[in-house]
Amino acid sequence: MGTPPFIIVAIDGGAASGKSSTSRLLAERFNLLHVDTGSFYRQLTSELLRCSVAYTDITAIQSALTNLQLTTRLNGRSAQMLIGGQPAGDEIRGQQINANVSHYAAIPAVRAALLAYQRGQVDVAKQHGFRGLVMEGRDIGSVIFPDADFRFFLHADPIERAKRRAAEGRQDSIAERDRLDTSRKNAPLVVPSGATDIDSTFLTLEQVVEKLAALIAAKIT
Ligand code: DC
Repeated sequence: MGTPPFIIVAIDGGAASGKSSTSRLLAERFNLLHVDTGSFYRQLTSELLRCSVAYTDITAIQSALTNLQLTTRLNGRSAQMLIGGQPAGDEIRGQQINANVSHYAAIPAVRAALLAYQRGQVDVAKQHGFRGLVMEGRDIGSVIFPDADFRFFLHADPIERAKRRAAEGRQDSIAERDRLDTSRKNAPLVVPSGATDIDSTFLTLEQVVEKLAALIAAKIT
């Protein structure tokens, strides 16, 4: 018996659709590196705001992004991005970032700055002995890994998603972020053709995970 083939699981979906909890549990179940690309866009947004670079100032954004030093360290099974050696702070989950992140994420230069870094997570996963990786975001199955072994898209009713955020005690601009993420020209939020579409509105987290895990297990064991 040789080493089992490396697997890539892509999970896309709108804000608060359950991607992170699902991805974390799948990472544990199948020994995968968990990569939350939304946290990368949040961290970059935080950095640009810290440098007072407005999302309307494309020239300033391009210059701030040159020489960006992006490295990775592990936080449990999750990939943590470091910018100039610094990890993200708790502020990336706050309302200021929620209100700004989709504006910055719509800018091609911002997406380009993260493209190779995201694909490079395959090497990080291999170096650390993971069996594969599960990457969550908006364009993973469409742009980052269109040939992923598994491509899932999670849907959930907007009212249910707002309830989930409220239950976590967090404020979020769910509808506005979805509107911006879906309507942008560059790598919009779409259900990639051929992806497995799952509506989690009436499912518990465990039921969603079981559904995805069964599909993965059926193909890899
Ligand atoms: O997954 P999240 O809600 O934490 O993502 C925050 C924002 O980052 C999201 O509203 C849009 C942007 N994003 C993106 O444009 N592409 C990705 N692959 C992941 C996130």
